[in-house]
Amino acid sequence: MRISGAKNSALKLMAASLLASGRFTLRGVPRIADVRWMGELLEQMGVTVFQEGDVLTLDVPERVTPEAPYELVERMRASIVVLGPLLGRFGTARVSVPGGDDFGHRPIDMHLRGLEELGATFTTSHGYIEGRADRLVGTTVLLPYPSVGATENLLMAAVLARGTTVIENAAREPEIADLAAFLNAMGGQVGGAGSSTITIEGVEGLEAVEHIVVPDRIEAATYMAAVGMAGGEVEVAGARPEHMEMLLVKLGEMGLHISPSTDGLVVTALGRPRSVDVATLPYPGVATDYQPLLVTLLAVGDSVGIVTENVFGGRFRYIDELMRMGADIRAEGHHAVIRGVGSLSGAPVRAPDIRAGAALVIAGLVADGETLIGNAHHVERGYQDLVGNLASLGAEVSYSGSG
Ligand code: UD1
Repeated sequence: MRISGAKNSALKLMAASLLASGRFTLRGVPRIADVRWMGELLEQMGVTVFQEGDVLTLDVPERVTPEAPYELVERMRASIVVLGPLLGRFGTARVSVPGGDDFGHRPIDMHLRGLEELGATFTTSHGYIEGRADRLVGTTVLLPYPSVGATENLLMAAVLARGTTVIENAAREPEIADLAAFLNAMGGQVGGAGSSTITIEGVEGLEAVEHIVVPDRIEAATYMAAVGMAGGEVEVAGARPEHMEMLLVKLGEMGLHISPSTDGLVVTALGRPRSVDVATLPYPGVATDYQPLLVTLLAVGDSVGIVTENVFGGRFRYIDELMRMGADIRAEGHHAVIRGVGSLSGAPVRAPDIRAGAALVIAGLVADGETLIGNAHHVERGYQDLVGNLASLGAEVSYSGSG
């Protein structure tokens, strides 16, 4: 089976299209709800968005309505990444303040402080942030934490700023390097993306381009975890081992055999996963998005594993659902102690978010009897066809609408 382009990159590339007028073509874009919603947001601003298969075209006009309304930001908090490009190109933006979500409290203080350092000013009223800037001016911004979203907003704002911007302690995720490659193809001058210091020389203007979205490492991890749960051998075509090194080390320790193929990875698993300890960290550490998948593997592990979640405060909420399926887990604060059990038992459960939803699906693959996953629409936000792909690998899984 073949993975799609990364959701977490495609959404940012779509936002970055606001930086120039003309026709953009993005290839490898997954057909998922989050991409549709980002498309709706851009259409409300005046962009014409069209997707056929995995090809997305965006026709961006000379002027847009620089506003992200509550209804769309509330649905998808990643909408906040339009702030940087809107300020960078149009000097004005009105964006609904994103609330918290299933991962807990999710502030955007680093986005705003960084943009202020580039010269933007913000006021907040009636649930909206209004940003203004004549022309942003490059400076050195030191992020207190390598936030993915803050790095992206700053990068997109700085590309049209006057002079040089340096982002220190930048996030290093492959999706950031993909965004920088896209901006450079547009005529930007971004260096160092993928490292913790990104340097941006502001340019006067950018132009629309074509681009292929980097493959989705989290989707790849989902199918690898499914093999770890159910056993067997699967080729995950498109997976880039260099984007998931720490994860491959951990899965190796858990007993999975992973080797490169011509165009991805071949994953083989026999027997129960070995229990290990894992801690999530910003890239290149083990990503927080892999965490529910790893906890699910450990739920059927051969002894005890401890998972420490260092990135998001509230990302263990799905564990109660796994426990309804017979998992033996004690979660407190940032730590979960997982005592592997011999088998899980199918039960009705609820998907609280995209990745936890996918983890419950792979738990259901090996659970005894039927597992019915409610709120499955969360899974559709991030996976083009999880059910079809798992079914093609021999799983008994079907989709009957979102309950
Ligand atoms: C992105 C990904 C998400 C992934 C996460 C971490 C998208 C659409 N989402 O989310 O799937 O799990 O990176 O790899 O790409 N923080 C602050 N203040 C800020 C910004 C962040 O305190 O201004 C905190 C957050 O609350 C969190 C941590 O920093 O605890 C990491 O957040 P961040 O890296 O910004 O994640 P997102 O960009 O929101």
